[in-house]
Amino acid sequence: MLKFLIPVAVMCVVGCSNGGGTARMDRLEKANDSLTMQVAALRPGLGEYMLSIQIHHNKLWFAGANGGWELAAFELDEIKEQLEKIPQVCGNRPEVKQLSMVDAPLAKVDSAIAHRDTAKFRQAFLLLTHTCNACHEAVHFGFNKIKVPADPMFSNQEWK
Ligand code: HEC
Repeated sequence: MLKFLIPVAVMCVVGCSNGGGTARMDRLEKANDSLTMQVAALRPGLGEYMLSIQIHHNKLWFAGANGGWELAAFELDEIKEQLEKIPQVCGNRPEVKQLSMVDAPLAKVDSAIAHRDTAKFRQAFLLLTHTCNACHEAVHFGFNKIKVPADPMFSNQEWK
């Protein structure tokens, strides 16, 4: 009797655990699909990164123009951080390939800040701004024209 029962029990355990495993895999797959969809929905678009870059571009100008070099360095880093995230998060946008055209102007701004050189800063900022527009034109978003800001975006921050 025992000789008969043991194989039956083993069959049942193996069978049941296999069945359970498949159900578990299905559940995990569903959870994974749902998470993938949520991540896609929450992922910022390229336009959102650009809007954030626009804010830091504005702050960078007032910091540099007023000799707030520490703040200028911080704002420049913020721009670089946003630019670095774009290929990771918006890699599906073909325009991303052109992004590296701002690297050289950014390095010029970086150097002007390091040397606390206002004249060089103004020059480098202008070059950076022209390059923002050069990319916009290259990728058919030329109607987004960036310029040296006339006013700070925010009135509740010191620039020096
Ligand atoms: C890949 C080249 C590229 C570079 C370099 C670039 N941009 Fe953009 N920018 C884009 C694209 C593409 C869009 C349109 C995004 C979209 O589809 O929403 C855009 C849109 C924008 C917008 C409009 C955002 C909105 O929703 O109103 C602003 C502002 C902007 N960019 C600022 C900048 C600034 C400032 C720089 C330079 C520091 C810059 N961009 C550099 C490609 C670029």
